[in-house]
Amino acid sequence: MSVLPNFELYDLKPAVADFRREVLAGLAASPRCIAPKFFYDAEGSRLFDAITRQPEYYPTRTEIGLLRAHGAEIAKRLGRHAALIELGSGSDVKIRSVLDVLRPAEYLPLDISLTHLRDSATGIARDYPQIRVRATCVDYTREFPLPPIAPEAHRVVFYPGSSVGNFEPTDVRDLLRWVAGMVGPGGRLLIGVDLKKDPARLNAAYNDAAGVTAAFNRNVLVRMLKELRAQLSVDDFVHHAFYNAALGRIEMHLRAQRATRIEIAGQAFDFAKGEGIHTENSYKYSEEAFGALAAGVGFVTEQVWCDADRLFSVQCLRVAA
Ligand code: AVJ
Repeated sequence: MSVLPNFELYDLKPAVADFRREVLAGLAASPRCIAPKFFYDAEGSRLFDAITRQPEYYPTRTEIGLLRAHGAEIAKRLGRHAALIELGSGSDVKIRSVLDVLRPAEYLPLDISLTHLRDSATGIARDYPQIRVRATCVDYTREFPLPPIAPEAHRVVFYPGSSVGNFEPTDVRDLLRWVAGMVGPGGRLLIGVDLKKDPARLNAAYNDAAGVTAAFNRNVLVRMLKELRAQLSVDDFVHHAFYNAALGRIEMHLRAQRATRIEIAGQAFDFAKGEGIHTENSYKYSEEAFGALAAGVGFVTEQVWCDADRLFSVQCLRVAA
């Protein structure tokens, strides 16, 4: 790989030991769970990209449409020549449409998936030679040192994809407080938030006909086989995703379709037929509910952009001075 003068990579990638510890704790818990951040190894990131191209999965294409349609307005709100910090840098189509209008001085993507991050960030460094790119591979839900950021640049955080939906509302507060601390008083957050809608539409988006979401869900088991040398049968578990209207979230589970056992590091976990592992929540918000959550931690909602069908929103929030 050629060395790009405007690119640096900081590797704070979680160790296999962290993955093992969290999986063992999650399988011992009741109900059993594994956090969605563990979907994203190289294969998981590839599968997620494939999900974003499924006809049923409306969020990515709707968000890109909003970023393109309102680019000029977004740039006006956020201001040019910023230090742009991106959380969980998903598809690079999104960030490219933001970079094109925002023209930041620095771009600082944070992502847990090393190969995915390296590929997309080097591509950006190559195509935008005037932007200084510093990529950090990290689990941003834990404490870590930010890479150096030019002190004169105003900071802007971009949190696309409604990844915020993965967190419990109480954890969203902590996350937003951390973001507020990063950008400082008067600083701004551009965030993608998926909206409440017809459950049939939601259920379809997480149960695509091609089975890509199912493969994505089961990839965490494949990772356990490869990285933790787990003994398990991937085929014993089936993808189960549904909208839980009472809690306002999509839930994804891996459900044992027969009695089975997972063994890792000498520990055995027995599953009765029908027993599951909860692998993801994806909360959906009304515009009002998200605004209230953000206001509770000192953010002012400056502007909300929605598509005509009100499927998805891109929101500009400002930290109250
Ligand atoms: C990346 C967390 C926003 O919740 O829609 C897609 C992940 N899971 N299909 C989402 C996901 C199943 C996605 N986020």
